[in-house]
Amino acid sequence: MTYQQLKNSFLEYFEKQGHKVIGSASLIPDNDPTVLFTTAGMHPLVPYLMGEKHALGKRLASCQKCIRTSDIDEVGDGTHHTFFEMLGNWSLGDYFKKETIKFSWEFLTQVLKLDKDRIAISIFGGNSDVIDYDSESEKYWLELGLNKDRIAKVSENWWGPAGLSGPCGPDTEMFYWTGQDQAPKIFDPEDKKWVEIWNDVLMEYNKIAEGKFEKLKQKNVDTGMGLERTLAVLNNYDDNYLTELFQPIIKKIEDLSGKKYASDKKIFRIIADHIRSAVFIMGDPKGVGPSNKDQGYVLRRLIRRAIRYGKNLEIKNNFCLELAKIIIEKYKADYPELEKNQIFITTELEKEENKFQATLEKGLREFYKQKNIDGKIAFLLFSTYGFPLEMTEELAKENNIKINKTDFEAEFQKHQELSRTASVGMFKGGLVDDNYNTKRHHSAAHLLLEALRRVLGPHVEQKGSNINQERIRFDFSHNEKMSDEQKKQVEDIVNEQIKKALPVNCEEMPLAKAKEVGATGVFEHKYGDKVKVYSMGKSSSISSEIPFSREICGGPHVDNTKELISFKITKEESSSAGVRRIKAILGKNN
Ligand code: SER
Repeated sequence: MTYQQLKNSFLEYFEKQGHKVIGSASLIPDNDPTVLFTTAGMHPLVPYLMGEKHALGKRLASCQKCIRTSDIDEVGDGTHHTFFEMLGNWSLGDYFKKETIKFSWEFLTQVLKLDKDRIAISIFGGNSDVIDYDSESEKYWLELGLNKDRIAKVSENWWGPAGLSGPCGPDTEMFYWTGQDQAPKIFDPEDKKWVEIWNDVLMEYNKIAEGKFEKLKQKNVDTGMGLERTLAVLNNYDDNYLTELFQPIIKKIEDLSGKKYASDKKIFRIIADHIRSAVFIMGDPKGVGPSNKDQGYVLRRLIRRAIRYGKNLEIKNNFCLELAKIIIEKYKADYPELEKNQIFITTELEKEENKFQATLEKGLREFYKQKNIDGKIAFLLFSTYGFPLEMTEELAKENNIKINKTDFEAEFQKHQELSRTASVGMFKGGLVDDNYNTKRHHSAAHLLLEALRRVLGPHVEQKGSNINQERIRFDFSHNEKMSDEQKKQVEDIVNEQIKKALPVNCEEMPLAKAKEVGATGVFEHKYGDKVKVYSMGKSSSISSEIPFSREICGGPHVDNTKELISFKITKEESSSAGVRRIKAILGKNN
C-alpha cells in the first residue's frame, strides 16, 4: 500500500462512518502559549473537545502535521520522528468506547487487512486509588475476538493534555508485531518489536491549571494513528525509513556522501528526519526561519544537528538544499504551502547552512581542545561558533568529555541578563529623546501590530521597529506584499481605536501571568521576571473585558489613544525574507 492509499483509505473509511474530513491545521498552534508546536491531531480541536460546537458536527477525521521535539533523542531508531503525520478520528460528545474500538478493529483488519495474529492491545491499568482499570474497553476488545494474552493493562495508558492543561483521559493502544518470526503468544509492551501504531483516547477529563482533574462536559474520543509507522508495517518493514517517504532522501544522502545507509543508519535517519521537519516548519502557513528563540531556535537546532552529522558522513559541500527539494516535491500535492513557500524555505536553509558551515569546523577544533566543558567554553561555542547548547552537550557525551552543567547554566543565565540589559538599552535608544511625538508613534505601533494581526492573521509578529519624532517604521513577519485593501483595513482599524479614545494602562506582572492574559511581545530573556504590560482599551488584567491591544513593553506611552489624532501608512515594502516593513505617520497634535 502506498502513502496516498493509506491516507485516502483512512479518511474514506471514517467518512463512511459519518465523519467530516478536516484539513491539517498549522504546525504552530493558535491559542496555546504553553507549547511551541502542534503535537497531535486533537490539538487544534481542544475548544470542541471542551464542549464548543464544531460547524461540521460531532464526528471529524483528519491527517494532521505534527512536531514532537520531546522525541528528538529517540530519532535515529526506525520508528521515531520529530515531524510526522497523524491520522485521527474524533467523536465530540458522540460515540464512545464501544464504537471507537470497533472502528479501529474494522479499519485495521478489514480495510488495511493487517494480520490479526500480529496485533496486540494495551488498556489503561488504573492508578490504584483514583481511577480503576478500564474493564469496559477490555470487554469490547475481547468481544471482537482478541485473545486475553494479547491485552495488557498498563497504568501509563493515559494521554494528555497536549499543553499544561486541557482535555485528557485513559487510552487504549494498538501494536503490531514487526519481527520476522511469529508474534509471541503473550503481549509484552516492553518488547520493541511490538510497535505502537494507533491510540484511542477515551477523553473524559479536563486537567485544570492547578493540576486537578475534573469531568468534561461531554465524553469524547480522540484517536491518533502514526502514518509513517503504519505505512511501514503495511509494507512489511520494521523501519519507517525504508518507506517511500524516506527512501528518496536516503538515496540522495548516499549519493552525496558515498556511504551506505546500511552501515550508518542512525546518522542517515537523523539527517533525513531533521531536514524534513525543518522544511515543514519553514514551509508552514505560519512558518518561521531559524533564530535564537522559540520555534526558530528549535528549527536552528534541527538544521545544525543535521549539518553536524553530515560532517560525520564526510559530505563535502552544502547538502540541506538538495534534500529539501526532494521533500518539497514529495509532499507538495498534499501540502501546497510547501511549494508556495519554497523560496522562503530554500533561502533560509541556504543562509543557515552557509552560516554554520563557516564556523563548524573551527568550533569543533576548539571543542576537541577541551578536557572539560565549563560554562565559559559552552558560551564561547554558542556565541562565536553557533553551537546550540544541546549540541555541545551531545558532543561532550559522545566524546566522554565532562560537562559542568550548573556552571554552564549559570553562564547562560548571565548571558540572558546581559542581553536583556542590552535589548532594553537598545529599545531606549530607539526612543531617543522621550519626545512627545516619539511617544505617540510608539503607541501607534502597538495599535498597528494588533490591526495587522486582525487583518493578515495571527502569524504576524513584530520583527523590529525604529521610531522617531517623524514616523513609525515597523517590521513584521508576513510572506506577501499587502494589497491596497489590506492596507486600508489596517488604517481603518487603527483610526477607529484612535476615535474611540481608549485609555492606555500599564501594569507590572510576572511573565507567566502576561502570557496567560494573552499579551503579545518578545518573551525571550525575561523568564522569572516581572514585565510591564501595556493595554489599550479596557483596563487591567483582572477586568474581564479584553482590551484591543495588550503588549509586553518597556514604554513609555501616551495616556489615551485620542492623542494620536489620525494614522496613515506611507509605505509597505519587503524588509527581508518573510518580513515586511511599514512606514506610517500620525496627524499633528498641537
Ligand atoms: N492525542 C492522542 C495521541 O497523540 C491520540 O491522537 O496519541
